[in-house]
Amino acid sequence: MATDKTSLKLDKTIPGAEDFLPLLGTDHVELYVGNAKQAAHYYQSAWGFQPVAYAGLETGVKDRVSYVLQQDKIRLVLTSPLKSGGEVNQHIDAHGDGVKMVALWVDDATKSYNETIKRGAKSYMEPQKKEDKDGEVVISGIHTYGETIHLFVERKNYNGAFLPGYKVWNPDYKPASVGLKYIDHMVGNVGWNEMNKWCEFYANVMGFAQLISFDDEDISTEYTALMSKVMSNGNGRIKFPINEPADGRKKSQIEEYIEFYNGAGVQHMALATDNIIETVTALKNRGVEFLYVPESYYDTVLDRVGEIDEDLEPLKQLGILIDRDDEGYLLQLFTKPVLDRPTMFFEIIQRKGAQSFGKGNFKALFEAIEREQEMRGTL
Ligand code: FE2
Repeated sequence: MATDKTSLKLDKTIPGAEDFLPLLGTDHVELYVGNAKQAAHYYQSAWGFQPVAYAGLETGVKDRVSYVLQQDKIRLVLTSPLKSGGEVNQHIDAHGDGVKMVALWVDDATKSYNETIKRGAKSYMEPQKKEDKDGEVVISGIHTYGETIHLFVERKNYNGAFLPGYKVWNPDYKPASVGLKYIDHMVGNVGWNEMNKWCEFYANVMGFAQLISFDDEDISTEYTALMSKVMSNGNGRIKFPINEPADGRKKSQIEEYIEFYNGAGVQHMALATDNIIETVTALKNRGVEFLYVPESYYDTVLDRVGEIDEDLEPLKQLGILIDRDDEGYLLQLFTKPVLDRPTMFFEIIQRKGAQSFGKGNFKALFEAIEREQEMRGTL
């Protein structure tokens, strides 16, 4: 029972999705970063990720180093180059630290590759078998938006810590987990007029279906505007909202991302918890910074979302946002960018029935900020 976390997100059948690419879940997310050793310390200390595996000079890898960290089902890989030149340096030079690989867990990496290539995917890596004393894995990969890659990882014949070539990384330093469970969704930012193209890619090449769309009418404010569609695979385990900028009076946050990331890329990872109050309290105590939520947001929030199980006061103290849809409600909040460039951030989310993504919060949050500005006479 203790290992069965799937009850958190019951599989469903997404209408319109096709089953030529069955995905078991997210295998891992690999970031290319300037200093993986220090990034690993940050994700351990601030975020409660646990050390799992390591590859580098000590394991015979000459040009890069990788640290693997895990919290429940969320597995991060942090990779830095050890020499100048090469793919990792080029990526960091262009984008700063950022997500390179969104690796998907499959039963058959060769079939996943063939089915997506047949439908028009651009190859990143033909299926490759890698083995060591713990068994074998097969990995293949295709390109998606920007320079981001989807790997397909088949690991049913593997029992090692992570992948062949990695050794167990087991330092004494292990700050406690903060209760993060799994990746709820991962959002891609793409350029002007590219949202539909990439949604079609997920539909046609990967068999995903569209869950929801909201346009700039829904979530535009005076200052920021975006359009977004949510693509999901057939069992609902993989959800990829795709954003593109829309015209606002000032530069949209998506545009700012595209400018500083030098193109399309992963904007945020939403990490799920069963107890958002405990998780966010722990994250704040460890120095993770969240977006400001004005107190006035809480003046009207219950009129909008109705009754909730939680007391409002701790939510208000922590700046946790609330939204409701036909199926229930959700609690969420967003970190500030976790990098120097204003690019990637995280969302913490707790779902209480709601299957949507917090659309109501865009407008409510902005209106609350406006109310505060009004009080200061600066609007
Ligand atoms: Fe999100």
